[in-house]
Amino acid sequence: MELRRFLHLLHGFMLLFLIGECHAKFVVEKNNLRVTSPEKIKGTHDSAIGNFGVPQYGGTMAGAVVYPKENRKACNSFDEFGISFKSKSGSLPTFVLVDRGDCFFALKVWNVQKAGASAVLVVDDIEEELITMDAPEEDLSAVKYIENITIPSALIEKTFGDTLKKAISGGDMVNVNLDWREAVPHPDDRVEYELWTNSNDECGVKCDILMEFVKDFKGAAQVLEKGGYTQFTPHYITWYCPQAFTLSRQCKSQCINHGRYCAPDPEQDFSSGYDGKDVVNENLRQLCVFRVANESHRPWVWWDYVTDFQIRCPMKAKKYNKECADGVIKSLGLDGKKIEKCMGDPDADRENPVLKEEQDAQVGKGSRGDVTILPTIVVNNRQYRGKLAKSAVLKAICAGFEETTEPAICLTSAVTSVTDVETNECLDNNGGCWQDKAANLTACKDTFRGRICECPLVNGVQFKGDGYGHCEPGGPGRCTINNGGCWHESRNGIAYSACLDKGEVKCKCPPGFKGDATNSCQDIDECKEKTACQCPDCSCKNTWGSYECTCSGDLLYIREHDTCLSKARTEVRSAWAAMWVIFIGLAMAGGGAYLVYKYRLRSYMDSEIRAIMAQYMPLDSAAEVPNHISDDNRA
Ligand SMILES: *[C@@H]1O[C@H](CO)[C@@H](O)[C@H](O)[C@H]1NC(C)=O
Ligand SMILES: *[C@@H]1O[C@H](CO)[C@@H](O)[C@H](O)[C@H]1NC(C)=O
Ligand SMILES: *[C@@H]1O[C@H](CO)[C@@H](O)[C@H](O)[C@H]1NC(C)=O
Repeated sequence: MELRRFLHLLHGFMLLFLIGECHAKFVVEKNNLRVTSPEKIKGTHDSAIGNFGVPQYGGTMAGAVVYPKENRKACNSFDEFGISFKSKSGSLPTFVLVDRGDCFFALKVWNVQKAGASAVLVVDDIEEELITMDAPEEDLSAVKYIENITIPSALIEKTFGDTLKKAISGGDMVNVNLDWREAVPHPDDRVEYELWTNSNDECGVKCDILMEFVKDFKGAAQVLEKGGYTQFTPHYITWYCPQAFTLSRQCKSQCINHGRYCAPDPEQDFSSGYDGKDVVNENLRQLCVFRVANESHRPWVWWDYVTDFQIRCPMKAKKYNKECADGVIKSLGLDGKKIEKCMGDPDADRENPVLKEEQDAQVGKGSRGDVTILPTIVVNNRQYRGKLAKSAVLKAICAGFEETTEPAICLTSAVTSVTDVETNECLDNNGGCWQDKAANLTACKDTFRGRICECPLVNGVQFKGDGYGHCEPGGPGRCTINNGGCWHESRNGIAYSACLDKGEVKCKCPPGFKGDATNSCQDIDECKEKTACQCPDCSCKNTWGSYECTCSGDLLYIREHDTCLSKARTEVRSAWAAMWVIFIGLAMAGGGAYLVYKYRLRSYMDSEIRAIMAQYMPLDSAAEVPNHISDDNRA
């Protein structure tokens, strides 16, 4: 059963095809490796940039090559062999030569980094064209260390590797220069770059890394875009369903426009949760958000839209839908109608111009290969290699400027910290965040990540909410701020408040009032509603928040019992009641004593008489008692 289901699903996915898949062109991005000594092997070679770690785009690195005596494939930690690659001060950094095979490329690089080296050269084990060393995608334990890889790595051809090994074993000092200056073209003072992304937020680690990157990179991207330094374009990969299958259930649930634009089912389960077509639809919306924002010369708003959508409309919370997206569009001041128009009709049996352009862009042009993996970053029409992290990507973008035209953000001491950049986005439409104009409160904050919407902390009271649509004071002290958003009113020196400081319920009308507790609480007319003061002799008068009740004659109104009682009679009654208590108490004590006395006396007499009588005649009922005694005596 399970297997059948699996095959069925697999079949469903196999139906989707990537444009240009049959003759896919994957370009291996390279950097230069120049041997500077010894003289006899001097020369320049290509090496392939690993798709993890931090390639030093725009820079160079010199090092001395070491080929370890043991653990040559670097599949184990070098600690186990007592090997360290830390270079002594004053000497060149260490580049470690390792052999391909037996374990993930990324694990080799991680092991070498842990041992203190500055770069890794992996020697291919067969004669072939250079390939890209990719990071393992599905291995969760690998994901943890891959994030921490900070050194660059390069794959070199087998023959070149053999040359290096021979020189090292011959006792030569081998020095090389790794050069990434030409890894990204840098023709002018503007960098064009693309991010091939996806709105699906439920594909596991890969989606998590992508979402984290987008959030993290947003601030830098917006600074670059607003300064006119870059021209950014987001892209989305779509698949298509072969003509013969467009009416199948799989294609219908995964595609829009009659099988023309598809995405794999997010949960890989057709029967539950979101369908592939939901993802295509949201991808299309994000493309249109970009187009509409770009038309109004604010292309950077796309970054706000995608990060806000991630936060506000996740699949997990079942909010991945049009309604939630419209809320984000509205809060960012984008033209919702234009976006709708751009998206067109998903059920129409014709091309969608926006998505058609995306499919065309997927096919590689010039020096750029086809885009087949997500996410992919393309800088000046070259595919970026390295880890998906702000500092590493920024390095690559900065390497795309013609020298001396780099913006300040590229020159800050280390590109790794862009903390000094503020975007002032909150001035524009309050950044689309929650605000309370009357109380001069806002959830918008300028940070180095761009603006974020986060409920404020006011006089020690933390506001709670999503930061976009609503924020309200929460926790202790909340009633001190704007009365916790609850109703309050005072009349003639008497004040009432519906705010509760503790517990789940925040606003509740006080006793004597009814209402929604936030906007209003109305006085309850206890007299009219006959909820109090209903005794025959009393007269009722409603007051604000309460009522007054007076009894006729010399009767006294007892509020707790809602009744009238005579002052005199109550006293007499209570005296009688006290005497009754004492009398009953005494009677019970007497009775008890009598019972004890009677019982003990009788049982005493009983046993005496029985003992005496037993000496003269056998007694049925007590036959055994004497016998026992005699038995004991005998023993
Ligand atoms: C990666 O780095 C983080 C933070 O520096 C650290 O907490 C984590 O343990 C590291 N992971 C591994 C596998 O070393
Ligand atoms: C964005 O706008 C610029 C000009 O303002 C234009 O050159 C570019 O092609 C636009 N991008 C898209 C994807 O429409
Ligand atoms: C609102 O608060 C900010 C700082 O919190 C202050 O600079 C500004 O003057 C205030 N505006 C008004 C109208 O009170």
